[in-house]
Amino acid sequence: MCGIVGYIGTQQAAPLLLEGLGRLEHRGYDSAGMAVLGTGGALRVAKRSGRVRDLAEEVPARFGGKVGIGHTRWATHGPATDHNAHPHTDGAGRVAVVHNGILDNASSLRAMLTDDGVELTSDTDTEVLAHLVARSGAETLEGRVADALSAVEGTYGLAVVHADFPDRIVVARNGSPLIVGVGDKEMHVASDLAALVRYTTTVAYLDDGEMATVTAQGFTTYRHDTAQLHRTHRDAARVDVDPAAYEIGEHESFMHAEMLEQPRAAERVLRGRLDERFGTSHLGGLNLDARELRAIRRVKILGCGSAYYVGQMGASMIEELARIPADAEAASEFRYRDPVIEPDTLYVAVSQSGETIDTLLAVQEIRRKGGRVVGLVNVVGSAIARECDGGIYLHAGPEVAVASTKALTTMFLAFSLLALQLGRVRDLSIADGKRLIAGLQQLPEQIQSVLDRDDELAEVAKRLAVSDSLFFIGRVRGFPVAREGAQKFKEITYRHAEAYQTSELKHGPLALISEDVPTVALVPDDELVERNVAALHEIAARRGPLVVVTHEGVDLGDLSAAPGMHRIDVPRNEREIDPILLTIPLQVLAYHAAKHLGLDADKPRNLAKSVTVE
Ligand code: F6R
Repeated sequence: MCGIVGYIGTQQAAPLLLEGLGRLEHRGYDSAGMAVLGTGGALRVAKRSGRVRDLAEEVPARFGGKVGIGHTRWATHGPATDHNAHPHTDGAGRVAVVHNGILDNASSLRAMLTDDGVELTSDTDTEVLAHLVARSGAETLEGRVADALSAVEGTYGLAVVHADFPDRIVVARNGSPLIVGVGDKEMHVASDLAALVRYTTTVAYLDDGEMATVTAQGFTTYRHDTAQLHRTHRDAARVDVDPAAYEIGEHESFMHAEMLEQPRAAERVLRGRLDERFGTSHLGGLNLDARELRAIRRVKILGCGSAYYVGQMGASMIEELARIPADAEAASEFRYRDPVIEPDTLYVAVSQSGETIDTLLAVQEIRRKGGRVVGLVNVVGSAIARECDGGIYLHAGPEVAVASTKALTTMFLAFSLLALQLGRVRDLSIADGKRLIAGLQQLPEQIQSVLDRDDELAEVAKRLAVSDSLFFIGRVRGFPVAREGAQKFKEITYRHAEAYQTSELKHGPLALISEDVPTVALVPDDELVERNVAALHEIAARRGPLVVVTHEGVDLGDLSAAPGMHRIDVPRNEREIDPILLTIPLQVLAYHAAKHLGLDADKPRNLAKSVTVE
């Protein structure tokens, strides 16, 4: 959420900042801004509500200068107005600050500054930082920033420039990522690798409590959470990323590109991890040997949003294959109920970004109480990955669209690998292990075959898009799929989409079924198929239009002729693996519905990628 970029070097900063902001726009797109230090130290600021392209129109040619910082915002304190956009400056216009995160004591600091006669011009928490830096008596910019930070409580990734110190950018991190990128006689800073990879893949990640002075020649790091600034040693290292993976290429949107990449992403997460001989998986990163795996009596999965729903899919798989009690819980709620942490429970944190604050805080709570947590994380080196005792990297590649698709698929597969291993150290037979491995190996091709039906799914999506309200229903393994389908649909189409257990319909929500309220029903060919089909009859009898996601050969009887009925057959695999194949068409339906409505699926309103605030 929110994006920071910065540049110092031999080139004009403004065009580079705009380019970097464009690449971070998925992190927040309410407003954008930049501050550039011109020769002689004049500080120029441009900022406005709206998209980066709107800001680009406002940045005049005279915005010359080779040092600058920029920001794209997802509003927390105060609405998305020009005044609330970052950078924020002190009254004299000599300090500019961009900030991600939330300062918890901002209101008391605002009151203190106002009592002192400072005129605040925004509703934000960040503005206090610019004033605190300006008021510090320290001789160096680092000292001033450290003074300011010693007064604030909360989370931040931030970058500061000051007209009196035109040869440097000072950055700091506490709970919100900050990366320094090393170029040739130039340096970059960013909150996300996406903004840097075009210029450099040699980077240093700051730790919480660390700050850095960045000049055109290099960078120096310090701890600022000690009484005095204390130098730290941090080398930049090359990261193994393909800059092309951050490009949209020929695709119409990132979400479309990321959906289409799923077969390849599925291959990557499985690669080198399947043991066909013993019908199990290799997951060295878990840091758990067979004895430790056997000692696990319960599995508790924690994630937010789609990561929580795929966690529910994972829990069913673990329970079925390993016969260990397993459940998933929203990480955002977990720590507030003062959870009992059990020594023989394996806690699993699931996160694409590895930054989601609720998931990170849940991990910290578990570890503080002595529990063991492993992470299923996509972004290598992210906060959650670093905080966990071990884990499975997802290798989904960068996910830019706000709605998660390929990361979710790789999460599901990582859960399959975990379930397989937990099962095989217990009573899951080698034959069953091999059966599952064969199923997993077929998946990339099967996912592709669903994606190949894009045109057919686009037609169904058009019909769903006209409805203001929809149901997504499923049972047991299908229920988290319904939750994920409803989530994807509401997130990018702004239609009301509600997930329900099929079995619960007649206990209330059936009252809402009418010819205007379609139901997307998940009816895999499993032990519940007959009951599921019976429920569809109850919907059809009330004229509810149906889209049924099922398997070839499932007999829907006379429902096939029901008005508004559409059937989508997905390929058969092992029952335990069904959920992911049922999920893929729901992504495609949501995507095409949004497209049909003329909405930007990559940047849905009110949302942003990676929720780094509570
Ligand atoms: C939905 C979506 C969100 C994320 C959630 C967790 O499409 O993208 O619900 O799944 O915010 O994000 P991560 O996985 O980064 O922790």
